Amino acid sequence: MYQYDAIDHQLVAERVAQFRDQTERFLNKELSEQEFLPLRLQNGLYVQRYAPMLRVAIPYGMLSSKQLRTLSDISRRYDRGYGHFSTRQNLQFNWPKLEEVPDILAELAAVEMHAIQTSGNCIRNTTTDQYSGVIADEIVDPRPYCELIRQWSTFHPEYAFLPRKFKIAVNANENSDRAATQVHDIGLHIKKNAAGEIGFKVIVGGGLGRTPMVGVTICEFIPRADLLTYLEAIVRVYNQHGRRDNKYKARIKILVKALGIDEFRLRVEDEWKHIKNNESTVPAAEFERLQSFFTEPSYEALTDNPGALTDKLAESTGFSRWFERNTFPHKKPGYRIVTLTLKKAGQAPGDATADQMDKAADLADKYSFSELRVSHEQNLVLADVRQDQLIELWNDCKEAGFATPTLGLLTDMICCPGGDFCALANAKSIPIAEQIQAEFENLDYLYDIGDLDLNISGCMNACGHHHVGNIGILGVDKKGEEFYQISIGGASGHDASIGKILGPSFAQEEISRVIHKLIDVYIGQRTPEEHFIDTYRRIGITPFKEAVYAKVN
Ligand code: HEM
Ligand code: SF4
Repeated sequence: MYQYDAIDHQLVAERVAQFRDQTERFLNKELSEQEFLPLRLQNGLYVQRYAPMLRVAIPYGMLSSKQLRTLSDISRRYDRGYGHFSTRQNLQFNWPKLEEVPDILAELAAVEMHAIQTSGNCIRNTTTDQYSGVIADEIVDPRPYCELIRQWSTFHPEYAFLPRKFKIAVNANENSDRAATQVHDIGLHIKKNAAGEIGFKVIVGGGLGRTPMVGVTICEFIPRADLLTYLEAIVRVYNQHGRRDNKYKARIKILVKALGIDEFRLRVEDEWKHIKNNESTVPAAEFERLQSFFTEPSYEALTDNPGALTDKLAESTGFSRWFERNTFPHKKPGYRIVTLTLKKAGQAPGDATADQMDKAADLADKYSFSELRVSHEQNLVLADVRQDQLIELWNDCKEAGFATPTLGLLTDMICCPGGDFCALANAKSIPIAEQIQAEFENLDYLYDIGDLDLNISGCMNACGHHHVGNIGILGVDKKGEEFYQISIGGASGHDASIGKILGPSFAQEEISRVIHKLIDVYIGQRTPEEHFIDTYRRIGITPFKEAVYAKVN
């Protein structure tokens, strides 16, 4: 993984010292709330319902076991013994004390981590597929390109005060998009052209929140040398023309919509004319340098499907279920990618206790070259596990509570922190997740339902990505009472779409009944090969609507 050089160390250390001073001046009332606001935001610090919230960046989702242990240690000593993995490869601490945040940042810096630009109106942590560099069907490893964008965007003075926050995600897989690139301000799809050269399809103007939109393609192929100048042209057009008078209309998606993609593209190309081939053009040597940080670990020469593995798969349903759902084909023979699920009944999706973090770090040391990944679905990943060690790992995972074999199924949901932690919430979301997890705990039933994304947000900001859930649940406030609006038909992969609202919202205690009704319609109508989303796309919303509301009347 990327190792800081002397300049990185210096930059991060200087930022910690600067923020320590700013925090002290704020606490001494030398800085007003208003003056402190952009300073704290650019260092990942929100002020929340009950306490500040600190968002720590996990670039391209990669963590060493040492870094994870530091996060767990911080959660124990400065927080309440847990952290929350977010959908964009960040970790959030929900209860730090403002006066202690500079110390937390100093401890993070010691293990090459930081919270710089994890909030505020700047370019945020660039995210990507959690299986980058190891998944069998990837075009090329996207991490060096994420690192390039990170170095370009961190501290870029021109983009420190954009109209709104700006999120970039990168994908390098034609078969799947695990980073939800189409609902990002910019989504980059790495491609190879006929000559074997690497470039990017560029998608712009996606995003969730109040006005959810799927991004549109602005360019089919940008050669990789031109990536940064082209990104600069896009962000410049946005910086100049994005709305600053209205926070709710300030994202790039609104500008793209208002101008239309053709006019937006013309403006970007006009800007690009001036900067193309300038010093931000990236020479091949720089790509090689960045690539050199993502060298392969010392894999052994192994073969696929060792005997012990195939025997165990044949004899143990529990193991084969876990193998099929929670592990993925690795590009190296004899290895497998394993996802450790953090989702289980009674624990908020994405939350990991300090003990769980330590345990995951131990497993990474034992089975996966001391490295882990964080996924968009808020789970942890061991990317390089020997197939002949899978049985032992499975036993360890069961013991640690990481083996719930439900990846991609209804209970592997994304859920925002909601009213339990967030000042903006209209309703709680974690109890809804718990209710559904408790209701759908029968594995046979879950497997029968098959792949299904269920996403929950506590308000229309859509942190929980409810718009792009096959089933989405949104907390709404009706005269001071918490209700939930349900949408169906959203998707976040290459076929991204925004869900449609079913109709009037439901009380908290009705949610699992409604979800059951939706599933019943799907099961009654599906063809053998269809997932929930396919059946919905074929039959439309009406049968679902009728079934759900028929019972109510
Ligand atoms: C200042 C108040 C906040 C606002 C206005 C806000 C708004 C949003 C919006 C609009 C998104 C989705 C954006 C998109 O994908 O286009 C988002 C993402 C997200 N938010 Fe918030 N949010 C706020 C506070 C919080 C808090 C307090 C938490 C957690 C305690 C949180 C957790 C998340 C998470 C996990 C995501 C998913 C993407 C990510 O990790 O960046 N947000 N937020
Ligand atoms: S969706 Fe709303 S309630 Fe949930 S974390 Fe985001 S801002 Fe808070």
